Amino acid sequence: MSQTVLDVFDRPLKDLRISVTDRCNFRCRYCMPRERFGESHTFLPRRALLSFEEIEKVVHSCLPLGLEKVRITGGEPLLRPGIADLVRRLSALNLEVALTTNGSLLRNQAEDLREAGLSRVTVSLDALDPKIHSEMTDSTISVEEVLDGIDAAQEVGLSPVKVNCVVQRGVNESEIEKLVTHFRGTDVIVRFIEYMDVGRTNGWQLGQIVPSEKILSHLNSIFDLVPLESVSSSDVAVRLAHSDGSGEIGFISSVTQPFCENCSRIRLSADGLLVTCLFATGGHDIRTLIQSKSSEDELNEAIAAIWQRRDDRYSENRSTETVALPRIEMSYIGG
Ligand code: GTP
Ligand code: 5AD
Ligand code: SF4
Ligand code: SF4
Repeated sequence: MSQTVLDVFDRPLKDLRISVTDRCNFRCRYCMPRERFGESHTFLPRRALLSFEEIEKVVHSCLPLGLEKVRITGGEPLLRPGIADLVRRLSALNLEVALTTNGSLLRNQAEDLREAGLSRVTVSLDALDPKIHSEMTDSTISVEEVLDGIDAAQEVGLSPVKVNCVVQRGVNESEIEKLVTHFRGTDVIVRFIEYMDVGRTNGWQLGQIVPSEKILSHLNSIFDLVPLESVSSSDVAVRLAHSDGSGEIGFISSVTQPFCENCSRIRLSADGLLVTCLFATGGHDIRTLIQSKSSEDELNEAIAAIWQRRDDRYSENRSTETVALPRIEMSYIGG
């Protein structure tokens, strides 16, 4: 098949998010709470992970379907040995290749990643305050190490670097204004993400979110912010800029302003499941197809068929009933 595909709601497939590991060196309480992801947790064994060649095969099969962007995620993708090799393979396919990381290993890897053809990175950073940061990430990796990783990314030209800040009520609201001030004038784009009910281990409750509107009205009282046009209809962030040109910020508001209508994202787990929504109960196992000697056309047709049957719009339908459903964990599917 060599034509773009549309799902049940006429949405094209444009972005593939590839998780390369379910492991992480952080234990963010909203993602991998240590009670659940402690010593006794069983992660995917090495042999279960798709090889880079196999991942490349999937990406190649998606190209004729309209794929434009890939994003490498985890867990923490920089924990996967040789990740720059995967970047090299994928960027050779004439695609935009980006990566989402917690930043702790960026200083050592930024140059190799850039050299391999990586376009951009997004770094998670929820707080500048060391105490809040260590409580949220439940790790001893410092804010300085993450900031140094961001510097390294900028030094090698992985720009613009985006920072993702998950906002939790009563936990890190104090950090919002500080983050905007800190990154103003640096070309780093800070985005505030409404805490989401991804997975079933974080005990999410609606009352723990801070609606983006509330954050924005607070920031508007301090900064002179003007709205920016979105680059693509499938972008998840609403963008604003400081009126003096000193930088951009964004809001990802999956809870209060869902963006399912234009969602063009498909996800591949590290062990070969295709997942059509971040809030899916499960995925489509395409591992056997990937590993069989059958032609790439078969894989391509299977992916097209999965996409054509896709009718996900979880965030638009979120309710007390949907919140109670089983869901894939964020660390397994990479956000
Ligand atoms: P660019 O726009 O290309 O920079 O990428 P991105 O914003 O998709 O990348 P990033 O990984 O930084 O995504 C930001 C965050 O938005 C993710 O980590 C998720 O928390 C959230 N997000 C991304 N895609 C979706 C989606 O399809 N649905 C929902 N509900 N949230 C999403
Ligand atoms: N809600 C919102 N964002 C989350 N992330 C991880 N878990 C959640 C959640 N429950 C964010 C991370 C990272 C990105 C991959 O997703 O902070 O920036
Ligand atoms: Fe790791 Fe990112 Fe999950 Fe935090 S949010 S535990 S850094 S995968
Ligand atoms: Fe896409 Fe599902 Fe997120 Fe809606 S909830 S934007 S369908 S991934």
